[in-house]
Amino acid sequence: MADRDLLCRFWRHFLYYFNFNELFKLNKSSTNKLSKKLANTMNQVKQNYQRAASAAKHSILRHPTRTMAEILRSCAERAEAYASPDVYGSGELIEQFEARIAKLLGKPAAVFLPSGTLAQPLALRIHAEQRGRKGIALHPTSHLVLHEQDGYQQLWGLQGQQVGQADSVLTADDLAAVNDPSQLAALLLELPMREIGGQLPSWDDLQAQVQWARKNNIAVHLDGARLWQCEHYYQRSFAEVCALFDSVYVSLYKDLGGIASAILAGSTEFVAQARVWSRRAGGNLISMYPYVLAAEQGLEENLSVMPKVAAFAQKLAPLLASIPGVKANPQQPQAAMFHLHIEAKEAELIEAVARHAEQESVLVLPLPRAQQNGCCICEIPLGRNALQQPAQFWYEHLRACLATIIKAN
Ligand SMILES: Cc1ncc(COP(=O)(O)O)c(C=O)c1O
Repeated sequence: MADRDLLCRFWRHFLYYFNFNELFKLNKSSTNKLSKKLANTMNQVKQNYQRAASAAKHSILRHPTRTMAEILRSCAERAEAYASPDVYGSGELIEQFEARIAKLLGKPAAVFLPSGTLAQPLALRIHAEQRGRKGIALHPTSHLVLHEQDGYQQLWGLQGQQVGQADSVLTADDLAAVNDPSQLAALLLELPMREIGGQLPSWDDLQAQVQWARKNNIAVHLDGARLWQCEHYYQRSFAEVCALFDSVYVSLYKDLGGIASAILAGSTEFVAQARVWSRRAGGNLISMYPYVLAAEQGLEENLSVMPKVAAFAQKLAPLLASIPGVKANPQQPQAAMFHLHIEAKEAELIEAVARHAEQESVLVLPLPRAQQNGCCICEIPLGRNALQQPAQFWYEHLRACLATIIKAN
């Protein structure tokens, strides 16, 4: 009897295990097929969006775009003024440009680098070497934390310590709560904070944060990828803002419209060391002139308009947020950008925006960059494009576009 029981139990277990595995295999393969199909459909939806977006006559996003050929042709015209290309960082064009940005930022020196992803950990490494510490205080939404595959720790040997809340700006109170500041070599602050819609700390709080760092012999580095948007809110020059920082990185393509590349600015000794680290890291290319020429052009075309664009953002965001199913973050923008949280499914939203772009030749939204609480988050970086029309124009078009997918309350 006992043997029969044992046999039955074994047999039951065997069948259960076998069926479960078969079922699991079946489910897994059909789930895989389904998710592949969904991914293909989404790719198709995004491709349609890209096609419609690039053909649209009006766009709410950034500056008028040029084709690759147009960009290179205008760089070629600018290049006529120079006898020879830069060689490993030396040459009239690159040196003049570095000096121009250094002056704009109120720093003694600057170095032209291929990317911000290189410029920032490199700057932090110099601060770390100087202080004999590895710790870096940064916000949980820092580009280094979210988008650089942990390079600052894995490659540059630094140790991150996240401070502040992911959904709000860093404050002096957050810093006062740091347990052991003596481990920290540098504090990284991003102005404006891209991941939370371009929010900025108040000038007083920013100063208090810097004072905390100074008191603890911690260097202060600025992630100024979009620093160009901050003049309007602080009502201070770039040099006044940058005077708070030991080192400053700015991007030459996002708001300025260059091809790629970055500037890292600071004291003369700091920049001399940055050149050495750039060489070590492969950032010191034999020639960078296409990037320098495009950055120079972007600077001349786009920088002076940024305060006007930031003022326009303050008018536009609340208006767009009055559309049912739309919220702006922040409600009152501080920089020349904001995020829109739109109550819609991703594919439906993308299709509606593409349809509107095809029918009206007006692009009202970028592709969503994230989903949160049933909403798509769309980043709206403004520039000369949005300024070409009154705020009401963008309101009417976004409302008409969303009316096809969001029912009015
Ligand atoms: C806030 C911020 N910091 C740094 C970077 C890095 O810039 P790059 O693309 O030049 O590496 C970016 C790029 O998007 C950014 O948004």
